[in-house]
Amino acid sequence: MAEDFLTLGIETSCDETSAAVVRGGRKVLSNAIFSQIKWHEKFGGVVPEIASRKHLEAICHVVQKALEDAGVGFRDLDLVAVTCGPGLVGALLVGVSYAKGLSYTLKKPIIGVNHIEGHIFANFLESDLEPPFLCLVVSGGHSHIVYVRDYGKYEVMGRTVDDAAGEAFDKTARALGLGYPGGPLIDRAARCGNENAISFPVAHVRGEDLSFSFSGIKSAVLNYLNQRRQKNLQVVVEDVAASFQKAVVDALVENTLKAAHIKKVETIALAGGVAANSKLREELVKRAGKDFKVHFPPMVMCTDNAAMIACAGYYRYKDGFRSDMALNAHATLNLF
Ligand code: KG4
Ligand code: ZN
Repeated sequence: MAEDFLTLGIETSCDETSAAVVRGGRKVLSNAIFSQIKWHEKFGGVVPEIASRKHLEAICHVVQKALEDAGVGFRDLDLVAVTCGPGLVGALLVGVSYAKGLSYTLKKPIIGVNHIEGHIFANFLESDLEPPFLCLVVSGGHSHIVYVRDYGKYEVMGRTVDDAAGEAFDKTARALGLGYPGGPLIDRAARCGNENAISFPVAHVRGEDLSFSFSGIKSAVLNYLNQRRQKNLQVVVEDVAASFQKAVVDALVENTLKAAHIKKVETIALAGGVAANSKLREELVKRAGKDFKVHFPPMVMCTDNAAMIACAGYYRYKDGFRSDMALNAHATLNLF
């Protein structure tokens, strides 16, 4: 494929409407992101019906902005890549329907992309990283340790048996009255807290060395808060945030390093919204030491964006995959 091959990425799986133009699979020419947070935050989480409506209102403008920022027109595009799952089905349908309309009108190929694969591919953007490497994928819906053997070739070595890491951040933030989305707010509050103030252990799953379980820590935080309130004792929100974050990060880093040693990889990569967490980045670099290189996508490409979808779509297309007008949206979609 030519080096100047242009992919338009479209992402509408949750509460961000995004469109991006990527050249040659890795060079980000534009990455327009319209965040819906202000419409959802008063409800303490994403309202699926509102998400679909906002995507519908925004999609044409966001695609237009992505093209303008990249300095290209519709006719210059070579491929349309769109997230087709997993995610909120009504939200996904907006992106999928728009992408199908565009592909049909322009007579350009279309490719459906798995959102989680997109997060992994964010590591290739603006970088020369090549497989194999180990990837910790931590988002609002997923916590997986994935061995990326090659482009599109994965082996899952560990996963959460209950809540995802991002979900634990969001639920704990809500319990602390910090707001939505919880991850960045806990990250910020934790900077002023003592991470050794409270011991919140993360359970290890018996017999499953590399799995995670995050539902227990959420309950432990709730119990702690209830006990303090019953006894009329003060709660130092920053200390709870820092102690919670430390427990989650310790579990993520520990299992990731174990997996990296098993596979004897050179590089560990981070992907998904929780990869934006400052403590996770800092701790992984510290504990990887000289044994492993650590790779992060740029901050804006850790959370949901269309550049990562364009990148994953490009490599799938290069591998010979094709979608057509039968492409549909899927609330659940296995990558692995
Ligand atoms: O990947 P993403 O944008 O959407 C999903 O595919 O789920 O991830 C969103 C998740 C949310 O749970 C959010 O709280 C979390 O990523 N997140 C963070 C941080 N920034 C976003 N979690 C911890 N620390 C952060 N700085
Ligand atoms: Zn995501």
